[in-house]
Amino acid sequence: MTDTLTPVLTDNWDQERSWTLAAYEARGGYGAVDKAFAMTPDEVIGAVKESGLRGRGGAGFPTGMKWGFIPQDNPKPKYLVVNADESEPGTCKDIPLMMASPHTLVEGVIISAYAIRANQAFIYVRGEVLHVIRRLQRAVQEAYLAGHLGKNIHGSGFDLDLVVHAGAGAYICGEETALLEGLEGRRGQPRLRPPFPAVAGLYASPTVINNVESISSVPSILEHGPDWFAGMGTEKSQGYGIFSLSGHVKTPGQYEAPLGITLRELIDLAGGMREGHELKFWTPGGSSTPILTPDHLDVPLDFEGVGAAGSMLGTRALQIFDDTTCVVRAVLRWTEFYKHESCGKCTPCREGTYWLAQVMDRLEKGQGTEDDLDLLLDQCDNILGRAFCALGDGATSPISSSVQYFRDEYLAHITHGGCPFDPAASTLFASNVGAKA
Ligand SMILES: Cc1cc2nc3c(=O)[nH]c(=O)nc-3n(C[C@H](O)[C@H](O)[C@H](O)COP(=O)(O)O)c2cc1C
Ligand code: SF4
Repeated sequence: MTDTLTPVLTDNWDQERSWTLAAYEARGGYGAVDKAFAMTPDEVIGAVKESGLRGRGGAGFPTGMKWGFIPQDNPKPKYLVVNADESEPGTCKDIPLMMASPHTLVEGVIISAYAIRANQAFIYVRGEVLHVIRRLQRAVQEAYLAGHLGKNIHGSGFDLDLVVHAGAGAYICGEETALLEGLEGRRGQPRLRPPFPAVAGLYASPTVINNVESISSVPSILEHGPDWFAGMGTEKSQGYGIFSLSGHVKTPGQYEAPLGITLRELIDLAGGMREGHELKFWTPGGSSTPILTPDHLDVPLDFEGVGAAGSMLGTRALQIFDDTTCVVRAVLRWTEFYKHESCGKCTPCREGTYWLAQVMDRLEKGQGTEDDLDLLLDQCDNILGRAFCALGDGATSPISSSVQYFRDEYLAHITHGGCPFDPAASTLFASNVGAKA
């Protein structure tokens, strides 16, 4: 078994009452804030740039560079917004992180806000996860009472207020500009860019929006130094990340490892596949990233490696499906999700996701034709790159990639007049094909 786990963010998750301030401080928590205060804000930005940290929310944009875009000569207030909306199917890293160690995030917020000279920060958390909202609110309250938030933090002269904002539960509110709309009290729909949030974000003021895991990684960079962080991972994807394994492995969960680890190693860490079954397909970064197959077990899970394999690292949400899963059924389920979550602002996605779901549905029921497969791919073509935001693109990923790798299985649904899997035996794909044809 590989020994490449690098617990940093997850290191205290098994500590007694790890979410309390006392437990966090007992491990030296909030010490990195003092290290940051001993530096100038620009030096903190420099350290984060040097570490090579890239956004952990999906796109992998360099975090230090994003902070450097904030125009400091702009007289308006600067804002830091933490994206804690986590709604991508399969993604499950920010919520466990905030439950187990909310103070890691709060400490990251203080350092990051100091770096960009923001005196007001927000954590935008999805409304459904009430237990996380409560935990965050309690942690923020503890931090205020201990002098880690509020006026003149640690005697540094730096003031910071932090608000935990509960969203109303829509996947699109994770898209950063829709999130800002939601935070301002409007319907969550993406904004036209430019202007980018760094110039005109929250309340038309310079704003940095970062993922929970990105901001939570900052204290460790200050604590151990940028070289320590850059020493992990691969040349262009540095550091560690939380990989969430769900589905048909023996021990699903969060595995923190350097970027560049492979799925083969991670499945090994997760105890292997379910007894008697084999890997059939998987997502490297949630349902918006093209699916991959057992041929990709040794692809390095970093931004470049997964990109070269024709997919995206995304949120490292590894959904593992074994040979009992009907790929058409799984893709239909995701497509219904995108149809439901399309915000309706642009035509290619509003109409397109609706049509995708209809065609997928009849294919899955065995009522489609071979022409429907071409129609499906044509519809994907008309959405990809033409939608207003990345939700539309994401809706096409599972469809086009599954047709690429599992065209025969789509065709088998047509010839079989329905799903060729036998739910009782649950594995029989090939032997059932043609039974009703
Ligand atoms: C439909 C959609 C949903 C998204 N959901 C999230 C989310 O829940 N959390 C998140 O951090 N980023 C999400 N993103 C990405 C954000 O727009 C943004 O890139 C990210 O918050 C930037 O943070 P980072 O640079 O730290 O990765 C989503 C993007 C799209 C298009
Ligand atoms: S792509 Fe979809 S979610 Fe994004 S703006 Fe268009 S309709 Fe809304």
